[in-house]
Amino acid sequence: MVRSTKRFKPIPLATGSVNATNAPFLVIGRNDFVSRFWKKTKAGSNLHILSERRMGKTWAIWLAIAKKPTWANPFFFDAEQVNTVEEFVWKLNQEMHRQGFMSDNAMDKATDWFRRIKQRMRDQSIGKYEVPSGLDPWSKFLEDTCRNFVEESGDRMAVLIIDELPFLVDKIYKNQGHKNAAELLDKLRAIRQTVNSFQMAFCGSLGMHIVLQNLKDNGYTGQPINDMEPLELSPLSREDATFLAAGFLLSEKIKCSNLEDVAVSIAEISSGIPYYIRNIVNWLLGQPVKLVDPEMIDGTLQKLFDTPGDPAGFLYYDTRLDQYYPEDIVKKARAALDILSRNNNGLHFNELLNLVRYRPSTLTIDPESLLEILRTLRDDHYLVGQSSQWQFKLEIVRRWWYEHRGGLEL
Ligand SMILES: Nc1ncnc2c1ncn2[C@@H]1O[C@H](COP(=O)(O)OP(=O)(O)OP(=O)(O)O)[C@@H](O)[C@H]1O
Ligand SMILES: [Mg+2]
Repeated sequence: MVRSTKRFKPIPLATGSVNATNAPFLVIGRNDFVSRFWKKTKAGSNLHILSERRMGKTWAIWLAIAKKPTWANPFFFDAEQVNTVEEFVWKLNQEMHRQGFMSDNAMDKATDWFRRIKQRMRDQSIGKYEVPSGLDPWSKFLEDTCRNFVEESGDRMAVLIIDELPFLVDKIYKNQGHKNAAELLDKLRAIRQTVNSFQMAFCGSLGMHIVLQNLKDNGYTGQPINDMEPLELSPLSREDATFLAAGFLLSEKIKCSNLEDVAVSIAEISSGIPYYIRNIVNWLLGQPVKLVDPEMIDGTLQKLFDTPGDPAGFLYYDTRLDQYYPEDIVKKARAALDILSRNNNGLHFNELLNLVRYRPSTLTIDPESLLEILRTLRDDHYLVGQSSQWQFKLEIVRRWWYEHRGGLEL
């Protein structure tokens, strides 16, 4: 029986970057996220948006901006390319001006400020320079920038959304030392507490807990985000994921035995993550297959895992452990993940502990430290679990990890 494909529509695979104008057309689903975002913001919560990498945070935020309520004036700033705290303040001003949130006069003032600060920073040791007399330090300039944004917003609530904030703080920590990084977080918190009609939301692919741990290791005792409410971004619903997969298949004119069945298969195997849906269809596109059927999709994922160059970026789940976890933790974390990847229903804590101890390099691990590692992996979205039962959060990540490392000898 041929089923109707009417409820699907072509969705272009290649889109370029998302913005407030194109988001309503490009971003599939996420209406629930958008309504939670604005409901919580209206209730006065500053939001910390959480999810694993590539879940679609940036895209979901742009949809929220596109669908902003009349009482809100959201401003989006991507901090990924910023390297120092002074540059952050400067680029924030520059971007506010570019997006029409700041007058030419205010922009001229910011340009002059940054020029003079930069001059002073030159030839100084990292993170240390004297602010020229009569010139505001970066923290004061940042506060003024936010107050200016509030003024420009008139009756509306000024909502500053910073994408990749944890990554920025991590870079400042590495480039300018932990004091500057901590001071930025403290200053942003102080601004949230003292500036009226101002709310903040931030997100990032790097967990803030990792950044804070680095600062704590350097003696920092602040709690700079304890006033922020976590807002989790989940995978797409099965229906939205199917809609997206079918849309890609249609727009790329990939012949399917049955469009809906193939789309359902892709939605399932990608764990509902739009980025993987896109990558699977993109992979299919490059294959000399005449007709795609649902049974082929499982093998497609396998081939995507094996494709040289790792086009879907799965390796990140492994390499980030070396990048962000202390050395003594990495081995134990990998052992736990290797063992859990062999069981799609997860394992009881005691069983996991026994198996981890079976491995010579983690022979002496004690229950407390294993539990702590599992909790860190949970904060980093690898795992879900409580004290007794643990498993991978996303089936697609479990499968990749198993293919990548799970078969290693204990
Ligand atoms: N709701 C959606 N509808 C359609 N495609 C989406 C959606 N969300 C994400 N995508 C696709 O997934 C890609 C990654 O999304 P996005 O950049 O928003 O993820 P992210 O969570 O911000 O990633 P990172 O953690 O790296 O910052 C996008 O470029 C887009 O192709
Ligand atoms: Mg992003």
